[in-house]
Amino acid sequence: MKGMRKRFGGTLAVDGVDFEAHPGKVSALLGENGAGKSTLMKLLYGVHRPDDGEIALDGRPMVLGSPRDAMRLGIGMVFQQFSLIPALTVRENLALVTQQAPWWIGRGARRLRVLERHVRSIVPEVDVDSRVSDLSVGQKQLVELAKVLLLDARCVILDEPSAVLAPPEAQRLWTLVRDLAARGLSVVLITHKIKDVQACADEVFVMRGGRLAGRGRAAGLSDSAVVEMMVGQAPRAVENSQPLPVAALTRLWLKGIDAGGARDIDLQVRAGEIVGVAGVSGNGQTALAEAVAGVLPLEMGEVILDGELIRAPRMRPRIDPRLGYIPEQPMVNAVAPELPLALNLVLKRLTALPFLPDTGALTRQATELLKRFDVRPANPQAQAQWLSGGNLQKLVAARELSETPAAVVACYPTMGLDVAASAQIYEVLFGLACQGSAVLWFSEDLDDLLRYAHRIVVMLDGRIVQDVDSSATNVMQLGAWMTGTAPPAVSELASGRVPALAEPA
Ligand SMILES: Nc1ncnc2c1ncn2[C@@H]1O[C@H](COP(=O)(O)OP(=O)(O)OP(=O)(O)O)[C@@H](O)[C@H]1O
Ligand SMILES: [Mg+2]
Repeated sequence: MKGMRKRFGGTLAVDGVDFEAHPGKVSALLGENGAGKSTLMKLLYGVHRPDDGEIALDGRPMVLGSPRDAMRLGIGMVFQQFSLIPALTVRENLALVTQQAPWWIGRGARRLRVLERHVRSIVPEVDVDSRVSDLSVGQKQLVELAKVLLLDARCVILDEPSAVLAPPEAQRLWTLVRDLAARGLSVVLITHKIKDVQACADEVFVMRGGRLAGRGRAAGLSDSAVVEMMVGQAPRAVENSQPLPVAALTRLWLKGIDAGGARDIDLQVRAGEIVGVAGVSGNGQTALAEAVAGVLPLEMGEVILDGELIRAPRMRPRIDPRLGYIPEQPMVNAVAPELPLALNLVLKRLTALPFLPDTGALTRQATELLKRFDVRPANPQAQAQWLSGGNLQKLVAARELSETPAAVVACYPTMGLDVAASAQIYEVLFGLACQGSAVLWFSEDLDDLLRYAHRIVVMLDGRIVQDVDSSATNVMQLGAWMTGTAPPAVSELASGRVPALAEPA
C-alpha cells in the first residue's frame, strides 16, 4: 500500500501511509487508539475506498470495490468487532461462508463437513452444534479466525485477535499465526500487546495520528522503543500501584450463585478491594459477570449489595445505578451504536428520567466526561459506531465508572486499549477502590492482575477453584490452576534455589 489516505468527515483517519506485507512474514501493526490501524486495513480489505493511494498485489495495481473483491484476490480479515451471528450455531455460521470457500473443498454437505473438521482442529473444545451466543469471547475469536482461514487466503489480516485471550489461548493463536506464515501466507497482526510482537512478528509498523510513526524489524526492537513510537514519549508509570488497606466491610456479596455456566459461586468483595478473576475464557466468567450485573437470571443464590438483596431467582433483572458494569464486547452489549455519544453516556439513566433532559446540559456534561476519559473524538454528537475500538471502550468506562459506584464488575476493561489508555483505566479502578468501591475485575492479563488486584480467584469449569492473595502467588501457579494441571511445587517456584545434596553414605 502506498500513500494511502482516508478521511471521514473532519477526521483524517489515514494520512499518507505506506505499508507492506510479505509472503511468509508476520507484519505487526501497532499504534495508540484511534491511530488509524483498523481503517488502514479496511482499505486493504475493500471495506472503505481510499481517497488517495495505491494498492498493489504481487506488483500489480488493483482497485478493491468491496470485501468480496478482496476475498477473490485471497485477502481475508478478522474484524475487531465480531461478525459471527450469535443466534445461529457454529455449523450454521460456517454454512454461510461455504459459498465463498474455494472449489477444492468440494460441494454441498461434503464441503460443510470439511469446514467443520477444520474448525475442530483449531478449536477442538467447541461443539459445532452449539450456538455462537453460548461461546466464550476467546472461543468466538478462534472460530472467527477459523472461518477466515477457510477462505484459502494468501493474506490474512487479524485485528486485535489476542485482546481477550488468556495465556494458553494466546499461545494457540501465536502457534497458528506462525504456522500460517510458515505456509507462505502474509499475515498482518494488529495488536497492542508487546508479547504478541515478541512471540510472532517479523516486522513492526507503528501508526500515530493517521501517519506511519515508524517501522523496523521486530528482532531488533526493544519494548520501550515500540512504546515510544506508539505514544511519542516514554510511558508513564501508573501511580499508587501499591495495594491499599482494605476495609473489613463487605459491599458485594455473591452467595451460592448458580447461573448459566457459573456454579456454586461464593465470593465477598470488601470496600476498597479489587478482586481479580482469572481463567481461560469459557469457564463461567461471562455468566458470573452477567449474573451479578443483572443480565442473566440466577438459578440459585443471591447477590447482595451494601446489605440489600439485588438479585435472586425469579427477581426481575434490572439495571442498578450503584453498580458499574463494563461487559465483554461493548459494541454489542454496552452501547446503542447509532445514537450519539451524549445519549450513550446517559443510557442507564434514561428510564429513570421523567423527561429527556435539555440537550444543552446533556451536551455540556458529555463533553466534559469525554474529555476526562480521553475519548477521541470528544464530540457528543458523533455516533458510537464511528469510534475506534479502544475509544468505544473508553466511552463505556466513562459512563460506568464516573459516578463512584458501590461496586464495579469490569470484564476486560482495557481490552483493545493502548498503553496510555490502559494505565488510565487502572488509575480509575484504583481510584474507585480508594473511595471504597468493591471491584470485581475479569482479566486475561495475569501480570496486570498480580500487579493491581488485592486478591485473585481462579475459575475453572464454572467454579471458583482458588482464592488467593495476589502477593502469595505468581503467573506460573495461576496458569496451572487455570488449566487444572498440578501447580508446580513450591521449591520450583523459588527461583534459583539449589536442591540440597543428599548426605553421603
Ligand atoms: N466509519 C467511520 N466514520 C467516522 N469516523 C471513523 C469511522 N471509522 C473510523 N473513524 C475514525 O477514524 C480514526 C481512526 O480509527 P481506527 O478505527 O482506524 O483506529 P484504530 O487505530 O483501529 O484504533 P483502536 O486501537 O482503538 O482500534 C478515529 O478517529 C475514528 O473515530
Ligand atoms: Mg481498531
